[in-house]
Amino acid sequence: MKKFVLPAKGSGEPGLVPRLLRFLRPGEYVSGQDLAARLGLTRAAVWKQIQTLRGLGYEIEAHPRRGYLLLSRPDRLYPWEVQAGLATRYLGRKIEYYEELPSTNERAKELLAAGPEEGTLVLAEKQTRGRGRLGRNWFSPPESGIWMTLILTPGMPLLEMHKLTLTAAAVLSRAIFAELGFRPLVKWPNDLYVDGKKISGILTELAGEIGRTEYLLLGIGINVNQTPADFPEELREKAGSLRMKLGVKIDRPALLRSYLRLFEEEYNRVRAEGFGEVLAYCRRYSATLGRQVEVATGNQRYRGKAVAIRDDGSLSLRLEDGGTIDIYAGDVLP
Ligand code: BTN
Repeated sequence: MKKFVLPAKGSGEPGLVPRLLRFLRPGEYVSGQDLAARLGLTRAAVWKQIQTLRGLGYEIEAHPRRGYLLLSRPDRLYPWEVQAGLATRYLGRKIEYYEELPSTNERAKELLAAGPEEGTLVLAEKQTRGRGRLGRNWFSPPESGIWMTLILTPGMPLLEMHKLTLTAAAVLSRAIFAELGFRPLVKWPNDLYVDGKKISGILTELAGEIGRTEYLLLGIGINVNQTPADFPEELREKAGSLRMKLGVKIDRPALLRSYLRLFEEEYNRVRAEGFGEVLAYCRRYSATLGRQVEVATGNQRYRGKAVAIRDDGSLSLRLEDGGTIDIYAGDVLP
């Protein structure tokens, strides 16, 4: 596991990077003296921090008289980039960030032993063994998607946990609409589609003891900035990205912030009042209802027409023999 480390020990407190960035604005020179005074450092220590920032991918001009000028920020999901202006109370307030992980869900499981706070977010720029549902792999190339796991302690009965994955998907569609102006459809229970291509998938895992679910791990993959050529041949027909729809590169930290804010709001509401709004959204913007589908659940497979999403979140199928069945947890096969 290639763990991302904040500035190496000895080069200053990690807290200095975000603090320094607050004073560096594009288009505005700030003198070394000014920065030193604001941060309570020597000018030499400021210079060292500037070098650290450069090492993290920030382009900074150093002018002998005018001082420092921020030219560009790297396309990274650094915790301080995600948290700058993050309007949540607990989601994403703690972020474990890695340049590379086998899988954010696997890392989140390792963190459980230490009793993590609700809302802890595990983020990786790249996954080497990203996992999908039904034992599939999830293609997770570097710096182009959002590969994340949210650690939650919903305190809800096991039989209601599926409501939260529906919630996670519906809210992601809303966040994409709010940020980018188009609305992905929700394929029951928790995939998002744009123009017939999958742009997001969710892998939910539960951890705890029998009869008492302690943690819900919400593993979410969002294809943000891939171009068609970035996908391997076998995925090119089926997978899409937000950038492919919009035609321009997308600000990943801004999208993630928006999602965390909207999700926190809805997650609180679902726990307090139920998930009526989520249901209404999933019904209205559904990629599943009215279609002939095949659904895998446990070892069974059912074929039929998806006729309803019931109030409890289950998918109702009219089977080919005329009967109906309600499915609580399953996968609609592509
Ligand atoms: C699916 O549609 O099959 C679910 C895909 C879930 C992928 C995400 S990416 C972040 C998290 N870590 C993983 O290993 N998987 C999930």
